[in-house]
Amino acid sequence: MRYGHFDDERREYVIDRPDTPLPWINYLGTEEYFGLVSNTAGGYSFYRDARLRRLTRYRYNNAPFDLGGRYLYVRDDATGDFWSPTWQPTRSPLDSYECRHGLSYTRIASARGGIRAETLYFVPLGETLEVWRVRVTNDRDTAAELSLFSSVEFCLWDAQDDATNFQRNFSTGQVEVADGVIYHKTEYRERRDHFAYFACSEPLAGFDTQRDTFLGPYRGWDQPAAVERGAAFDSEAHGWAPIGSHHVRLALAPGETREVVFVLGYAENPRTEKFDPPGSQTLNKRHVRPVIERWLRPETVAEGFAALGAYWDRLLGTLRVTTPDADTDRMVNIWNAYQCVVTFNMSRSASFYESGIGRGMGFRDSNQDLLGFVHMIPDRARQRILDIAATQMATGGAYHQYQPLTKRGNNDIGEGFNDDPLWLVLGVSAYVKETGDQTILDEPVPFDNVPGSEVSLYEHLRRSVTYTQERLGPHGLPLIGRADWNDCLNLNCFSDTPGEPFQTTENASGGGAESVFIAGQFVLAAKELAAIAELRGRDEEAAGYRAAAEKMTAVIIEHGWDGAWFRRAYDFHGHPVGSSENDEGQIFIEPQGMCVLGGVGLDDGLAVRALGSVAERLATPHGIILQQPAYSDYRIELGEISSYPPGYKENAGIFCHTNPWIMIAEAMVGHGDRAFDYYRSINPSAREAISEVHRCEPYVYAQMIAGRDAPTHGEAKNSWLTGTAAWNFVAITQWILGIRPELAGLRVDPVLPAAWSGFRATREFRSATYEITVRKAAGVSGRVAYLVVDGERIDGTVVPPAPAGAVVAVEAVIEQ
Ligand code: BGC
Ligand code: NOJ
Repeated sequence: MRYGHFDDERREYVIDRPDTPLPWINYLGTEEYFGLVSNTAGGYSFYRDARLRRLTRYRYNNAPFDLGGRYLYVRDDATGDFWSPTWQPTRSPLDSYECRHGLSYTRIASARGGIRAETLYFVPLGETLEVWRVRVTNDRDTAAELSLFSSVEFCLWDAQDDATNFQRNFSTGQVEVADGVIYHKTEYRERRDHFAYFACSEPLAGFDTQRDTFLGPYRGWDQPAAVERGAAFDSEAHGWAPIGSHHVRLALAPGETREVVFVLGYAENPRTEKFDPPGSQTLNKRHVRPVIERWLRPETVAEGFAALGAYWDRLLGTLRVTTPDADTDRMVNIWNAYQCVVTFNMSRSASFYESGIGRGMGFRDSNQDLLGFVHMIPDRARQRILDIAATQMATGGAYHQYQPLTKRGNNDIGEGFNDDPLWLVLGVSAYVKETGDQTILDEPVPFDNVPGSEVSLYEHLRRSVTYTQERLGPHGLPLIGRADWNDCLNLNCFSDTPGEPFQTTENASGGGAESVFIAGQFVLAAKELAAIAELRGRDEEAAGYRAAAEKMTAVIIEHGWDGAWFRRAYDFHGHPVGSSENDEGQIFIEPQGMCVLGGVGLDDGLAVRALGSVAERLATPHGIILQQPAYSDYRIELGEISSYPPGYKENAGIFCHTNPWIMIAEAMVGHGDRAFDYYRSINPSAREAISEVHRCEPYVYAQMIAGRDAPTHGEAKNSWLTGTAAWNFVAITQWILGIRPELAGLRVDPVLPAAWSGFRATREFRSATYEITVRKAAGVSGRVAYLVVDGERIDGTVVPPAPAGAVVAVEAVIEQ
């Protein structure tokens, strides 16, 4: 069943009923000011850091799930009838409803009783504010006397504190209303020097800033007293819960449309100029007034919206494909690329599943996200790499997460995820392959952000690799530490206190448990670093890394091969995990993917064998399951993985992030059909028709889909912020379509489904444009026989970089 449809022309997903199975959301903002917005205008806004600079409040664990947002109320002043034009929060029946989620904007239109309202929400480039442009139309044949109310509930900035520290919070709230603008200045007295403003383009009939006055005693957002009676209270918040609400009266002739603009923004003052005049409690708003005035003008809004469209044209223009599969085209050209940029902005901080409080930027997450956006925003990728690397320790270890505002490692989860450092090598390598910019390797980067500790980024990479080499276990495999990519595989949790979940405090990372996954990842990273070392003329070092990769490969084959697949790990006691010797958890997906990515088993048939086992034991029509059989009980020696009921998350869920590793591995061994079948099985657009099963947004990937052991097999969860976005983008574009940046140039080496008869693509690469045509007869499933570049046949499949501005015609011919 569908709840909407794709409008590919306009790059929008159109939702045609508000009661989607879950909130179907979108993101506003591309730089510093961000917002989440659902199909009913739910969600919140923040400046840079969803935890520390939260502008508007979100109430966790609410019912309904999607409640609290950028709400408007329309009131027919003749009858007293009022409703929400975005359906929530009044949920009054609407005669029509349509939500269009586009690239960094959302437009929600509806009608009731002959009154139409359409609201466009977006954050203009270069600004720290959001615009709500509301168009109200009177479709009746008589005049209409209407009221329009806006509303936001302010968060007292630190979202964690805001949700917990009530004895303080109920007394700190402060607002100021001047010239029709509502200013939220809680905390402005202190060192932070920031405030929010909420302005309206129309003269006000009234305003409210105290939530409980606006709503009335014992009322919720569905029935505000001010709206019901048709007049604001002009309330001023002193403590309690500051809000912003404007009341505007609109008299509309038949057929008339009026445009009303609301602007919600964030401002900072230089510390020395806090108050105006000094010593008073009045805000210094000199610098924001002109900004507000400008953005309340319809012409500025129109220009700002057009500029946002042009921004996305530029980003998405770096890769355009036309294939025989519409779901592939739509994801590659629009939605998957878009999701990759959103993961760049958010990492794992703020979604409807990530609270914006708990996690900041993940070290391993951000390095992997980079693979999906580096071609679109290389300069920002460069800066991101330097920020991430600056949180690395001199040991080579890394904070698992850091706070976007401060860029400091956050101590909630410190070191000890032993895969973390290696992702930095893979992220940097992707950047250098895409851009050809080697200067990044010489950039001085500190350890743990300590000034004076700077070494080159290249040296950071060396330490990442050494970190693994210095932490090998009894079989010569890398020690897993607290966990590797699979956060929940906590193999050093050997506490035998019954009923105590994942005891990780003592010896959590000090135990002897080993990871075959990290071993595969090490082989991959060591080879990548060897290639970078060669590029820098450090041949001896390169040879050392290659030898280390070879040695680890031999260890994997000796101790990590189980007979028909790669083992997952050895636990604290030295027992294998992910082996036919186990009663449950016999085969895991991660090492099958990562070992093959590292090239292990490619020459001796082990890779093909392992992939066959994946197909046989883990593949389902809804994607590939993480492990089988699911753990039926909690097992202290395995930790959090077994805390999940069978079929969910890491306990045999379809953890989508891992699926593209198998797609890539299948492409590496030349299995185009299998690779593409896997790709389609989790492609959200291809799953649109089963939205009642999938339940999450059909335009972005979700972190997981319930596995076949779950009663809700096929149900997706945790949409948007997941490494699934970047890795699927890599799998389809670089391996199945085969357009792959390498140090030496752009490789074109597709591995396609047999039924396809080729495809076309345009790729910007190092300032030149490549017009690629891949030809193949339907039914053929071979590899590229030869490339023709600008009319000349060349050897191999790497197109050397062309001069900046060049347009290069590449023809790839696939034969049996
Ligand atoms: C989840 C993991 C996640 C981790 C983040 C665990 O509970 O199962 O998927 O990576 O939390 O801290
Ligand atoms: C989600 C986390 O963000 C990611 O870092 C981790 O690898 C997976 N969960 C698997 O546990």
